Amino acid sequence: MENKDLFEGVSKKGYSIVLGIESSCDETAAAVVKGGRELLSNEVYSQIDVHALYGGVVPEIASRAHVEKIDAVVSEALKNAKVSYEDIDAVAVTFGPGLVGALLVGLSYAKGLSYAIKKPLIGVNHIEGHICANYLCHKELEPPFMGLVASGGHSHIFHVDENDSYSLIGSTQDDAAGEAFDKAARLLGLNYPGGPSLDRLAEKGNDSFIALPKPQTRGAYDFSFSGLKTAFINLHHKNPPKTEDERAGFAASFRRAVVESLVEKTMQALSDRNMKKLVLAGGVSANSLLRRRLLEECQNNGVELFMPSLNLCGDNAAMIAAAAARQLKKERLADLSLNACPSLKLFEN
Ligand code: KG4
Ligand code: ZN
Repeated sequence: MENKDLFEGVSKKGYSIVLGIESSCDETAAAVVKGGRELLSNEVYSQIDVHALYGGVVPEIASRAHVEKIDAVVSEALKNAKVSYEDIDAVAVTFGPGLVGALLVGLSYAKGLSYAIKKPLIGVNHIEGHICANYLCHKELEPPFMGLVASGGHSHIFHVDENDSYSLIGSTQDDAAGEAFDKAARLLGLNYPGGPSLDRLAEKGNDSFIALPKPQTRGAYDFSFSGLKTAFINLHHKNPPKTEDERAGFAASFRRAVVESLVEKTMQALSDRNMKKLVLAGGVSANSLLRRRLLEECQNNGVELFMPSLNLCGDNAAMIAAAAARQLKKERLADLSLNACPSLKLFEN
C-alpha cells in the first residue's frame, strides 16, 4: 500500500485502527485501538510466574516465552476486537527501551506481519507508550502538559508540548522508583514483583515506624533512591522486623519516603513552570499512596491530574497502539530496517 492510499483511507473513515505489540520485558501483549482513544481489545500474557522462581526477570527466559506466546496473543487481540488484518491501518511495536532479546521478538513479529499484510509499521518508544496510556483513559487530554513517569527502569519529570515533543525536567541519579520498591520488597521477603506486594503491606503499617533520610540530589527536580535503599537495608539488618506489624511498618515508612520525594519534586516543577496539567505514567503509577497524594496535592494547587486506570499502569500494548495513532497522524512511519534499541531515549536533553 502506498502511503498516500493509507492516509486517504484513514481520513475517509475518520479514524485509524492500530494493532499494537509490546514485548520489551516480561509481558507479551497485543491490543487494538480505534482513533487513538478507544480500546477495542487489550491482551496481556504475563510471565510473572516463570520469573518469580528466580526473584527477577531472566532475559533469556523472557525472550523464549515471548516467542511461544506472541502469535496467540496477537490472534486473540484481533479476535476480541472483531477486526481482520484488512481493517488494520498500521502495525505498531515497541522498539526500545527494554531487554534486547525480548524487544526483538515483538519487533521481528511486527515486521513480518507488516510485510505480509502490506500495512505500514510504526516504531514506538516504550516510555512514550506509558504516557500515551492516558489518552485512552482521558478522551479530552491533549498536550501541553507536565508528567511524572515512574517505572521499573525510569523515574522522570518531563514536559510535552503541543507538537508531542518531549523534554526532560528531572530524572533519577541512581535507582528508578520501581527498582527501589522491588529491592525493599525483596528484603522484606515479598514475592517478585515486589512493588505491588509492598504497596499492599504498607497499607496496614505505621509510616513513621523507621526514620529514613530525605534524599539529597544535585538538581532541584532530580530523584535519588539508592541512599534511601541503603538506609532501609541497614535498619533492617540492625533491627529485623519480628512481627507482621513491624514488617508493615518498614514497608509503610519506605513507601512514604519514596512517594513523598516523587510528589514533592513533581509539584515543585509544576509550580515553578506555572503548569496546571499533570500526567502520571509507568508501573509505579499503580501505587495507591502515590495516587492519593498526587490527587490531594493537585486539588490543593488547582492542578488537573490525569492518571492511567489501574489496568493500563503496567506494561500493555494498548498504550503502544495509542502512541502509534498519534505518530500515524503525523505520517511518522518506520520501515523494515527498524532495529531494537535497548537504551532508546525519549528526551533530547
Ligand atoms: O512500567 P512497568 O510495568 O515496567 C517497566 O517499564 O519497568 O513498571 C514495573 C515496575 C516494577 O518495579 C513494579 O514493582 C512497579 O512498577 N509497581 C509498583 C506497583 N505496581 C507496579 N510499585 C509500587 N506500587 C505498586 N502498586
Ligand atoms: Zn513499562
